[in-house]
Amino acid sequence: IKVPPTAVVIFGASGDLTHRKIIPAFYHLQKNGHLPDGMAIIGFARREQSEQQFREGLRQSLEDFSHTQPIDQSVWTALESHLYYHKGDLSNPEDYVALAERLRTLPEASAFRENHLFYLATAPNFFPVVAENLGKAGLHAREGVTGCRRLIVEKPFGTDLPSARSLNETLHKVFPERCIFRIDHYLGKENVQNLLYFRFGNSIFEPLWDRRYIDHVQITVAETQTIGSRGGYYDMAGASRDMLQNHLMQLFTLIAMEPPASLEAESIRDEKVKVLRSVPTPTSEEVLRNSVRAQYGPGILGGRTVRPYREEDRVSRRSLTETYVCLRLEIDNWRWSGVPFYLRTGKALSQQYTEICIVFHRPPCVLFAHSLKHIARNWLKIRIQPIEGIHLLFNTKVPAQPLIQEARMNFYYRRQDHYFPEAYERLLLDALIGESTLFTRSDEVEQAWRIVDAVQEAWKEEELDRLPLYAPGSMGPVEAEELLRREGRRWGDPP
Ligand code: BG6
Repeated sequence: IKVPPTAVVIFGASGDLTHRKIIPAFYHLQKNGHLPDGMAIIGFARREQSEQQFREGLRQSLEDFSHTQPIDQSVWTALESHLYYHKGDLSNPEDYVALAERLRTLPEASAFRENHLFYLATAPNFFPVVAENLGKAGLHAREGVTGCRRLIVEKPFGTDLPSARSLNETLHKVFPERCIFRIDHYLGKENVQNLLYFRFGNSIFEPLWDRRYIDHVQITVAETQTIGSRGGYYDMAGASRDMLQNHLMQLFTLIAMEPPASLEAESIRDEKVKVLRSVPTPTSEEVLRNSVRAQYGPGILGGRTVRPYREEDRVSRRSLTETYVCLRLEIDNWRWSGVPFYLRTGKALSQQYTEICIVFHRPPCVLFAHSLKHIARNWLKIRIQPIEGIHLLFNTKVPAQPLIQEARMNFYYRRQDHYFPEAYERLLLDALIGESTLFTRSDEVEQAWRIVDAVQEAWKEEELDRLPLYAPGSMGPVEAEELLRREGRRWGDPP
C-alpha cells in the first residue's frame, strides 16, 4: 500500500483518543514500514506546552497503551522527529490561519505539499466549528489544491437524525463526501473485515444465508466495564446512541447485505445502506414490544463493588438513560422477510465479547422422536472479539449410545505468525490513501439514526420513573431473555 507523504493534523491532540489510539496506531504504521518519508503529524490543542513536552507525553502514552511492547526506540525516534505541536483554540479562526502558515513552512512541506488529513478527535460539538474554520482559513478541499485534503470525523456523528443531517450539511460545504471519513472503529476490526471475505469467499455458506435456512440472527456486544468517568457524555447518549446506532448497526448491515457488485467502496456501501432502508421505521407500539432497555443497579463485578448507574459521577440521580439495550429488528426484503435480528449491548455485564450468531432452523425430529423432544439448532458463531474466530455447532452421535450431542468446529483467527493490527491502524492507513470502504457514508449514518430515533421517541412517550435494573455481572435484564423466550428462542451462551 503506497501512502503519499501527508500532513496529518489532529484536532483534540491532548485528548484521550490521541493518546490511547491515534498515536499508537501511527507508531505501528511506522514500525511496519507504511509511512513514507515526508510525513508530518501536527497536534492542535489549547494547552500551553512545548513541542518537546508534547512528544514526551505521547511517548509515555505509547508505553501505557501500545498493544505491542516493549516500544522500539528506533521506530519512535523516526516518528517523533515528524511530530509537531500547534497551540490553538478550536473556536478561533485566526489560529487556523496560523496553522495554514505552519503547514506551508514545516521542513516536510515540500514532500507533502497540500496533502492534508484533518482528524476531528475533539468533543463532537466542535466538529462543525473546526470544519467551518478550516474553510475560512482556506484549508478545505477545493479546486487548485495541489494534493488531497481529507477529513476524519470521530463518533458520535450527531445525536439524532436532524443533528446528523445538519452536521453532514456543514461538512459538505467544505469537504465533498468522498473526502470525509466517518470513523466507526468496529469496521477496522479484523474479524469484521473478514465478514465480507467469509460470506462471499466461500460457496458453502452463502446458499444458506436467507430466510429458508436461517431462523434468526443474534448480535451481542457485551462489555464488563461500567461507564467509569464518562458519565457526562454517557448520560446524554445511553447504549442506543453510544453503541447501537453505530457499532451494532454496522455489524447488522455486513451480515445482512447482498453481495456487492464489486469490492469498491461505493458498491459495498450501497448494499449496506440498502439493508437499513429495508428496515421499516417501527411504530411506538412495535418499539415497546420489541425492545428492552435497562440500567445496571448495585452489585459486585469482578470482585469489586459497583455503584448503581444512577449514582455514578455526573449522572442524573433520576436518569432514564439505558446502559443496556436490546432491539428486535426485521428486514423487509426478499432474503430476510420474517427473520428476526436481535441486537443487544450493555455495560457492567458478566462477559466482555462481541459475537454474531447465525441460528439455523431446527431440523425435523422425526427420526429421533423416540429418544429426544427436539434436536438442537445449528449455530454459526462469528466471534469478533476478544478471541476472534468462527465456530460451527452441529449435532453428532454420542459414541456407543443412540443419542445426539452437540459438537463444535472451531477456527481461531489469530495466529502466532501473523501480525494482528489494531482497528485504528487499518483505518488511518485507509484514510491516508483515500480508501473509504471501512468508513460510514452520510446516508448510512442517517438511516441508522432514523431507526434509533424511532426507538428513542417511543421510549420518551412511555414516561417511566425508572428503568428496569439488572445486576452488574449478569448478562443483562430478564426482560431480554423473555423477549426471545416468548418466541421460542434463547440467547447463545457466552463464550
Ligand atoms: C466506543 C463506545 O465507541 O466503543 C464505548 O463509546 C465502548 O462506550 C467502545 O466501550 C467499545 O469498543 P471496543 O473496541 O472496546 O469493543
